[in-house]
Amino acid sequence: MASRFPAPWLDDLRSRSDIVQVISGYVELKKSGRKYWGLCPFHGEKTASFSVDAEQQLFYCFGCKTGGNVITFIMEIERCSYHEAVELLADRAHIPMPEMVNDDDWERRRTRRERLLGANREAAKFYHEMLFRPEGAASLAYLRKRGLSDSVIRKFGLGAAPDQWTALTDHLISSGYTLDELSSVGLTILKPPDEKGGKQRYFDMFRNRAIFPIIDMYKNVIAFGGRSLGKELPKYMNSSDTPVFNKRKGVYAANLLRQQRHLDHVILVEGYMDVVSLTQFGVDGVCATLGTSLTNEQARLLRRFAPEVYLGYDGDSAGQHAILRGLDILEAEGIPAKVLDFPDGLDPDEFIRRDGAEGFAKLPALPAAAYRLRRLKESFDLSQDEGKMNYVRKAAFVLAPLDPVGQETYIKTLMLETGFPYDALRKQIDSVSKKDDNPSSGPSGDLQEKHTPRPSPRRSEPTVSPEETAQEILLGLLATGQIPKDMVEEKDFEEDELKSLYVALVSGSSPASLLDLAPDDETRSRYSRILMSPVAESTDQMISMATQCLGRIRKASCQKQYAALMHQIQSMDPKDPAVPSLLRDAQEIQRKLDRMN
Ligand code: UTP
Ligand code: MN
Repeated sequence: MASRFPAPWLDDLRSRSDIVQVISGYVELKKSGRKYWGLCPFHGEKTASFSVDAEQQLFYCFGCKTGGNVITFIMEIERCSYHEAVELLADRAHIPMPEMVNDDDWERRRTRRERLLGANREAAKFYHEMLFRPEGAASLAYLRKRGLSDSVIRKFGLGAAPDQWTALTDHLISSGYTLDELSSVGLTILKPPDEKGGKQRYFDMFRNRAIFPIIDMYKNVIAFGGRSLGKELPKYMNSSDTPVFNKRKGVYAANLLRQQRHLDHVILVEGYMDVVSLTQFGVDGVCATLGTSLTNEQARLLRRFAPEVYLGYDGDSAGQHAILRGLDILEAEGIPAKVLDFPDGLDPDEFIRRDGAEGFAKLPALPAAAYRLRRLKESFDLSQDEGKMNYVRKAAFVLAPLDPVGQETYIKTLMLETGFPYDALRKQIDSVSKKDDNPSSGPSGDLQEKHTPRPSPRRSEPTVSPEETAQEILLGLLATGQIPKDMVEEKDFEEDELKSLYVALVSGSSPASLLDLAPDDETRSRYSRILMSPVAESTDQMISMATQCLGRIRKASCQKQYAALMHQIQSMDPKDPAVPSLLRDAQEIQRKLDRMN
């Protein structure tokens, strides 16, 4: 079970799979300065912000902030697992696959995250197996009653939580997981201990429910949704956020999306059942948010699977309201969107069962502007002049950002709907365009400008203190191997993540191999950004940059120590015998600080 690739073999593989060569097979790269640049294959762009660092064997996109080493590049571009990426690279480099090493020590060192994911995976397996046993008969009957085929049930790994209090927890404990781990991933609920202080009591979170495992694009089981089998409430129970699950960041069926190539759009729906049902009818690229409205993080995730998003929300009023919000979020992220308009208040599952795959294929996909106009129109009384005018005023805001061709089309519609002449409508739109023009864009071609989607906001970056920036730059310098290692100490780094990068670098790990330490995408991208070679002409310049960074870091750390000491002293009784020595410590730090200035 605890098997992995031997580290020296992986190092060899990485050294024989030059990142510039490998990436050149997918992206046209040009050398500029010390790095190679090209158009990012992971998000649409017209200017090159995708960089490849031959020295550090890393890539990083300054646009969408995806980063990694040669193995993670292959995982992203080929949409495959870590293991598959390693196999593919080994095959291309003609390196035979190694004997996997059985390493119990490694097993023990497995991080908490890996243990928690392991518990989830084992739970998903348990639920799925139960479905075809007497304990799961009710769930299976329910799923069949909803019209699901065995093959789609297997495709989504659906399962059954038995109608028992502790079936899953007992199973997972016997597989070696602890109650603490199981309650952290939300599978087990711990009861307060009884008065006698007896054994910890517990019960399963999901009981007598059909189970939808939520699987991320790397095939990790990160959470579960459970559907009640009848009218019991809540209809759906979902894992709450856990150390391995953030419902605002994932989508249901990301694992399947990732395997579908060349999708021209993804279809985002509201419910798990809608995803499963549409998929059974042969619709590709369907996914759902996880019981929340669409977030910016999810929008950016969707962009990785297809260039356009169709919103396929329920035809009821809540769904219709959510569409407008969804369109705004997609637009803010620069993602083109359309709306699938389900008639008669139906949800996608109900609709496709009624009208079949043919009916679904004929369903119009409304461009965002057309949908917004339609919603506006419904909110005004167009039989009255005032209603018409207000409609046109609002409509102008919807049309102003469109390109000239789009505007022309909709102006014609507005003419028909309101009876206003062309010129009046044109003027109304132009007046709005002028208002939100940025002053730098000239009078000519400004309509053209608006055609390009707004630049997508960067992945939200927390504000970083100057000391932290200095620590990051310092790590980048250390990674070049060109500054003396003994210049820097572990205590120069505050954050655990940065400390662990430091420890690994001084113990001789290559920057590219450090990415394996990253627990998730965002951390991996951060590590890539940090470890890319800094812009410096010479070793001397690097050393001088390192000296500056260290100065800033050590000064900030002294200031913090000083402040903490003074705070402590002020909160003490002045007659406390410990005060004089604390004061001496403070003076000592003050002297140090003076020397630094
Ligand atoms: P819906 O109620 O629209 O789901 O909720 P549905 O897919 O049509 O359900 P069926 O067809 O009756 O089985 C949509 C989504 O909202 C979340 C779930 O993620 C669900 O898939 N939800 C809904 C909850 O989390 N809890 C609930 O009680 C209801
Ligand atoms: Mn439904």
